[in-house]
Amino acid sequence: SKTYHIAVIPGDGIGKEVTPWAQAALEKAAEGEASFTYEQFDLGAERYLRDGAILPQDEEDRIKQADAILLGAVGDPRIKAGILERGLLLKLRFDLDQYVNLRPSKLYKGVTSPLANPGNIDFVVVREGTEGLYCGAGGAVRRDTPAEVATEVSINTAYGVERVVRYAFQLAMKRRKHITLVHKKNVLVNAGDMWQRIVDRVGEEYPEVTHDYSHIDAATIYLVSDPSRFDVILTDNLFGDILTDEAGAVVGGVGYSASGCINASNEYPSMFEPIHGSAPDIAGKGIANPTAAILSAAMLLRHLGFDEAAAKIDAAVEADIEELGSTTRTTEQVGKDILARI
Ligand code: NAD
Ligand code: IPM
Ligand code: MN
Repeated sequence: SKTYHIAVIPGDGIGKEVTPWAQAALEKAAEGEASFTYEQFDLGAERYLRDGAILPQDEEDRIKQADAILLGAVGDPRIKAGILERGLLLKLRFDLDQYVNLRPSKLYKGVTSPLANPGNIDFVVVREGTEGLYCGAGGAVRRDTPAEVATEVSINTAYGVERVVRYAFQLAMKRRKHITLVHKKNVLVNAGDMWQRIVDRVGEEYPEVTHDYSHIDAATIYLVSDPSRFDVILTDNLFGDILTDEAGAVVGGVGYSASGCINASNEYPSMFEPIHGSAPDIAGKGIANPTAAILSAAMLLRHLGFDEAAAKIDAAVEADIEELGSTTRTTEQVGKDILARI
């Protein structure tokens, strides 16, 4: 049977603390089903401070050769915001054309939601991953003068929107068959209108799937007032970023929220990572929750077609949270507890 090659980029802060547990979970869950080789990449803050490298071409080329990528988090308070985020993480998402950013949210039994009446929370955010305000189009002129002008341009193409819309409809068919498009079409009339028209048009091919629409501001209300209304939330790059941190909080913290940056045409490898960042406020303390990283390993396995191995991780996490979710544990303890159940 085939050996799968995994590029591992632990990155910065708690990324380094949680990623080994994701790798260990992957290895254990796949035992007997699939074999993996791993290549660790020394990318992130330490590397940048040491030799100025962010994502050298030869290393990116090797990452591109992998079957999948496991990433921790990037970003460090010693380095100007954006250098690593844009130069490493977003560069990979863009260069590897990972146009679907898949972010499931589920309220596990045993987790205390900050909501008084959370109901049954089980939705997936399908976030566009290669367009919108994240393109890096724009600039600053007359910097540091009173006449400074700074622009960030949101780029939305029919091609880019349609492919993620199609993905959302296909996903909805496997779920509860409901899509909520989230945008701000009352203000962003160009992009918002295009998203809506494409959803309407593609939706005609999926008569079983219902779809409705929320403005982003209202969606942030519904996410805390009535989250069980959502099945598939379909949205652009920036709205999806914001909404998924809120979703993480609603299901008990971003430490439970995994994601996949998917190249759904499999032209390049997909990348799996927790949705959270490097958390400098708790980095080095050994208390970061590795569950999100471990769940991202399950998403990786599912992406490669190893549904049973993925289900083993999901079940182990579910059981762990149900029994011990309300206790205070170190990263290592949670990692060991989950691993023991795989
Ligand atoms: P963050 O997600 O790192 O942290 C937000 C809050 O959540 C913090 O209070 C943190 O302690 C907590 N938290 C995050 N993960 C946790 C975990 N596993 N267990 C327990 N608590 C957890 O977001 P931030 O503080 O805005 O950003 C910090 C750095 O990370 C920045 O440099 C940012 O650019 C970067 N970042 C990177 C990614 C990524 O690599 N995918 C994602 C988000 C932020
Ligand atoms: C995330 C992060 C990234 C994003 C940043 C670090 C570029 O917040 O993965 O959610 O905005 O996508
Ligand atoms: Mn984010």
